[in-house]
Amino acid sequence: MFSDPVLITGAGRRVGLHLARRLLQDGARVIAHYRSSGENLETLRAEGAQLVQGDLATVDGSLAVAEAVRAMTPALRAIVHNASAFSPTADDPREAASQFIQFFGIHMQAPWLLNTTLEPLLRASASHPADIVHITDIFAERPHPEFDLYCATKAGLENLSLSLARRLAPRIKVNCIRPGPILFMPSHTPEARAKVLAETPLGREGGPEPVYRALRALLDNDFITGAALPVDGGRHLAR
Ligand SMILES: NC(=O)c1ccc[n+]([C@@H]2O[C@H](COP(=O)([O-])OP(=O)(O)OC[C@H]3O[C@@H](n4cnc5c(N)ncnc54)[C@H](OP(=O)(O)O)[C@@H]3O)[C@@H](O)[C@H]2O)c1
Repeated sequence: MFSDPVLITGAGRRVGLHLARRLLQDGARVIAHYRSSGENLETLRAEGAQLVQGDLATVDGSLAVAEAVRAMTPALRAIVHNASAFSPTADDPREAASQFIQFFGIHMQAPWLLNTTLEPLLRASASHPADIVHITDIFAERPHPEFDLYCATKAGLENLSLSLARRLAPRIKVNCIRPGPILFMPSHTPEARAKVLAETPLGREGGPEPVYRALRALLDNDFITGAALPVDGGRHLAR
């Protein structure tokens, strides 16, 4: 499908794993980043992915991931920034401050560091244009007060996306996908699930495939940059 690999962060489980596997099924080469080891990694490797491990909450971890990717390939078709942490803001200010630093590291600093250090690999791609895709959240636009730090750092990533889209054009497109209720977390209670679904015009949990379809739509369209595409069953209309 593409001659150069697609790098996906946080590909060890759930949405990132699905994106990596679907790209492989469709014939793309994939470099799958993960943090924690698990049985999904062997599946990914067996299906043809190259794997790179690292903690994207820190500068050193992010730069080490970039270095490992540079050692694997001279060119990248796309970078898909999927890695994320999600939790309500803690009541204790010190604990909340630690969360803030972690969210900033994963959602903003790591994408900025990877995009900056791997830009030459995107420029070397046989595909014109190459792509950066940031997986954000509908909460980036309409924040949830209990998750204010998570939301603010996803909004920060969307703002970085806009700067990058201007700076890297026309060689590299930069877009966001804003998921809504794609896969509930184990921490979502039945009541919380019912409330979310009641707020979702299409009335169901989407599953990860619509995110893959959105990713393909962006990769396959050479005239979209600086966009943020909701994949949320319409939930952004209801809040
Ligand atoms: N699921 C939804 O309904 C939904 C809704 C809105 C937005 N989104 C967005 O869609 C994306 C995927 O969602 P998801 O539900 O699959 O997310 P998830 O289950 O929370 O998975 C996040 C991934 O990020 C990795 N990660 C977390 N902290 C990391 C760190 N410090 N360094 C490196 N990797 C780290 C995790 O690795 P480990 O396995 O090692 O923890 C995991 O692979 C995320 O960007 C999320 O914000 C999802």
